[in-house]
Amino acid sequence: MRILVVEDDPAHVLAITRAFKAPDSWVDIAVAGSLRDYRLRVAEQVPQIVLMDLNLPDGRAVDLLSHAGEERPFPVLILTAQADEKIAVAAMKAGALDYIVKSPGAFAELPRTVGRALREWNLCVREKQAQAEVLRASQLASIGELAAGVAHEINNPVNGVINYAQMLVNRLGGDEVNRQLAEGILREGDRIAAIVGSLLAFARPQAEAKRPVDLGELLKDCLLLVGAQLRKEGIVFGIEVAVDVPAIAARKQHLQQVFLNLISNARYALNEKYPGKNPDKVLEIRVDMIETSKGFVRISFHDHGVGVPRHLRDKVFNPFFTTKPADRGTGLGLSISYGIIKDHGGRLLLDSEEGSFTTLSIELPLRDAEAIRE
Ligand SMILES: Nc1ncnc2c1ncn2[C@@H]1O[C@H](COP(=O)(O)OP(=O)(O)OP(=O)(O)O)[C@@H](O)[C@H]1O
Ligand SMILES: [Mg+2]
Repeated sequence: MRILVVEDDPAHVLAITRAFKAPDSWVDIAVAGSLRDYRLRVAEQVPQIVLMDLNLPDGRAVDLLSHAGEERPFPVLILTAQADEKIAVAAMKAGALDYIVKSPGAFAELPRTVGRALREWNLCVREKQAQAEVLRASQLASIGELAAGVAHEINNPVNGVINYAQMLVNRLGGDEVNRQLAEGILREGDRIAAIVGSLLAFARPQAEAKRPVDLGELLKDCLLLVGAQLRKEGIVFGIEVAVDVPAIAARKQHLQQVFLNLISNARYALNEKYPGKNPDKVLEIRVDMIETSKGFVRISFHDHGVGVPRHLRDKVFNPFFTTKPADRGTGLGLSISYGIIKDHGGRLLLDSEEGSFTTLSIELPLRDAEAIRE
């Protein structure tokens, strides 16, 4: 466990490090003597928890914590002397998890206090994630309805355009110039129809019967389709399937579409980061059971590509959200995939670090695979 102590009083630093010096302790303590030093340390290596003195040579913890844009993936505990408890409360309002009034007893208690703080923090993080996910799911559901409505309305007129254009093409047999124009209308019309079809698929993937699907086999089939392309671009890819994964009840075509979408995104991200060959141009696909429950299987696509910036993470599942040039992406891949996975009673989750990696995980329930086999 990595603890960062931000404290300028050597005696207090000593007391804190002593408290964690149990013979079997595997705590790694780093010390920063100022806010500036703290920033450097955190940029170097993210700690699991920070113990911060309220007053430091170059500023106060409260000001640091309340500073806009100071987003932290770890909890901060404030250390304070009896006299400045009021400011400590202000620090909590500014985002500290708790405060500790310095005393020999409190220092000795620190390992337990830190343990408790970390448990509390993890619970909070999990709750926040769950809330964000519910919110996103409901937003996507309403976007889906809207998209389906619009797509439905566009479907008829666009088919009309295609039919008229076809009639023109047929009539203009000898008139080369005009026939080419009419063919242009036909082509673009077909493109609109395909996009509209995809949108409808996002809103309500139609019924193909669910059958037992061997995920490892299906993934291998997908890589047969795109493997040559990946290899040509120097992408190193592999599939690892845990031995205990049973077949699941799924619509094979739909799952295949999801897998191909995710592979295509990974491929793009890898080519962005490494236009040529590189040993780190890697896509790893894994299938395993989720440890916490026997009822779910996870299929994850992990690429070492450009990653998704934090501020875009909530947007990537939205229909038509794309960062690609117009001729390279329509922004429908992930939204359609999301719809399909939801239709299977599962979840599609994104984890990423900009410049470093992206993982798209599909979690699918195992239930009713048995029923279908009977
Ligand atoms: N593996 C990935 N690495 C980095 N960014 C990704 C990855 N997958 C998706 N994204 C981001 O999410 C956006 C939306 O992805 P999505 O698949 O929905 O659309 P698209 O790939 O842009 O277009 P389409 O799939 O319709 O061709 C992408 O434009 C990209 O910015
Ligand atoms: Mg895509």
